[in-house]
Amino acid sequence: MRSHYCGEVTSKDLNSNVSICGWVHRRRDHGGIIFLDIRDIRGICQVVVNPENKIAFEIADNCRNEFVIKVSGIVLKRPKGTINKNMPTGEIEIEAEDIKLLNKASTPAFPLDDYQEVNEDVRLKNRVIDLRRPEMNQRIVSRSKITSVIRNYLDENNFHEIETPILTRATPEGARDYILPSRVHPGNFFALPQSPQLFKQLLMMGGFDRYYQIARCFRDEDLRADRQPEFTQVDIEASFVKTEDIINFGTELIKSLLEKFANHKVKDIPSISWHQSMEDYGCDKPDLRIPLKLVEISDIVINEEFKVFSGPAKDQSSRVVALKIPEGNKLTRGQIDEYTKFVGKLGAQGLAYIKVNDVKDIENGLQSPILKFLHKDTIENLIKTLELKTDDLLFFGAGSKNVVNLSMSSLIKKIGKDLDLYINKWAPCWIVDFPMFEENKEGNLTSLHHPFTMPKSTTEDLVESPESIIAEAYDIVINGYEVGGGSLRVHDPDMQKEIFNILNISDEEAENKFGFLLKSLSSGCPPHGGIAFGLDRLVMLLTDTINIRDVIAFPKTQSATCLLTEAPNVVDESQLEELFIESTHKEED
Ligand code: AMO
Ligand code: AMP
Repeated sequence: MRSHYCGEVTSKDLNSNVSICGWVHRRRDHGGIIFLDIRDIRGICQVVVNPENKIAFEIADNCRNEFVIKVSGIVLKRPKGTINKNMPTGEIEIEAEDIKLLNKASTPAFPLDDYQEVNEDVRLKNRVIDLRRPEMNQRIVSRSKITSVIRNYLDENNFHEIETPILTRATPEGARDYILPSRVHPGNFFALPQSPQLFKQLLMMGGFDRYYQIARCFRDEDLRADRQPEFTQVDIEASFVKTEDIINFGTELIKSLLEKFANHKVKDIPSISWHQSMEDYGCDKPDLRIPLKLVEISDIVINEEFKVFSGPAKDQSSRVVALKIPEGNKLTRGQIDEYTKFVGKLGAQGLAYIKVNDVKDIENGLQSPILKFLHKDTIENLIKTLELKTDDLLFFGAGSKNVVNLSMSSLIKKIGKDLDLYINKWAPCWIVDFPMFEENKEGNLTSLHHPFTMPKSTTEDLVESPESIIAEAYDIVINGYEVGGGSLRVHDPDMQKEIFNILNISDEEAENKFGFLLKSLSSGCPPHGGIAFGLDRLVMLLTDTINIRDVIAFPKTQSATCLLTEAPNVVDESQLEELFIESTHKEED
């Protein structure tokens, strides 16, 4: 239908006949001459319609924003003074010879010819209009390009793309399952995969050696800005590999993505042990662009009478930390109160601080509500240990490890952002040496990754002291976001059974739920391992947004609904009957 895309008609085409198709982005009537800006996926081009060309003029006159038209005409240089150097097509315009109205459009829910902040619900409800915005268009196209680079990289490295079932059984990744009733097997249900974890392991047992899949995963879990109930993984598995093989491979992939899509060269990606990361940053997703670390000060304050500090300092399951903000002295009382409220919402009992007005003057140079509770030598010790300088600010967190870690790690990220402390644009790191298990609220052990993760120990040691065993597991974190995670897998059926036991899964339940896995593990299973990258999160970072919904064409809301199609929705009684299902849900009056 067209000879050129709108955004690609340039001075090179001067005086030639071209035809473009697209949406009327803007229509202006300049004393008898009509200007139409026509937009398509590659940009915008200006069309001039003269009144002498009666038919075209009438069509242009009736055009409204978002009408779909085809324009044929001749490319002319724009008159002096109307040239727009900021647009690739800014030096030319097309003088219309013929205009065809391809389709009309109702008035869009929000204007596209003038950028406006639009409420996200309105955008999601009118996603077709929203997707036409250049920044959305570009993000979704970038996603396609990023996926294509990843695919090529994996293909070149002899990975085979293999699809795995969507209608399947539960795959434990720690979230709730989405389940689907089976019509032909009344009372039985499929689960949508939380990940292709077990199938990719079975493929290794099937001899494929190297697998990948751009895999859709489904998790019914609490949603956040970087989480969707339906998301995409770049799922990878390989046989006869060690942890460093996967880490090296993942490093190269991430390096090449950063280079291609963020124009950023990374020499190497550092590894930090989980333990160290929790100590220094209070979390296993540190944002290493921010040069702030927690410093454990339990030993320094253990003998103080100030119970807020000495209590947790004496308790094994608690910690007391200090966080130095260089030149943080400029923070106002109001800002400090805001940060205190912020950590309070995350469970912290308070946020003690010391402002260092003059580090040389311990008597009068420090400012803090807690100075009166601390001995002079404790303060001196803090100054020395934290290498305090005049104009620094110290924050303190004391309490249970969970609360201190959560609140202080969030505080680091918040202050880093508020005060723009970033020392670089990209800071990827690997987190390694995760514990195999963690204790849940009920005091039972659960897998930190998933139950198929290989321990760095013998089966005997694992059974003896599971709490202290480290896993052959690794995550990759970029700028504070977990963008991938994986592990070596258990390939010994007896070890796998022991892990199920530790997780309180009886032999009978294990056989019932994972019998197919245990049988396959016994059939000659190669040592294997892999990783899955969160594609949505990678694209999010590479396209410079912090909203995962901006990189998914048709995302769900924070409450897991689709505003466009209004899914989920009720179904006919007859459909439920056919599925042998009766809803117990009662509509509230
Ligand atoms: P994991 O559960 O860590 O590992 O998931 C891998 C990566 O997927 C991304 N991700 C998500 N992205 C958006 N929305 C979500 N709800 C969501 N949940 C996870 C994250 C995460 O790092 N089977 C294992 C992988 C393996 O061991 O090979 C797994 O699924 O970026
Ligand atoms: P209080 O004695 O409760 O008034 O606390 C004195 C100071 O210690 C205040 O600045 C509080 O914000 C701070 N504070 C109280 N509890 C904690 C805690 N668990 N961690 C850090 N600071 C705290």
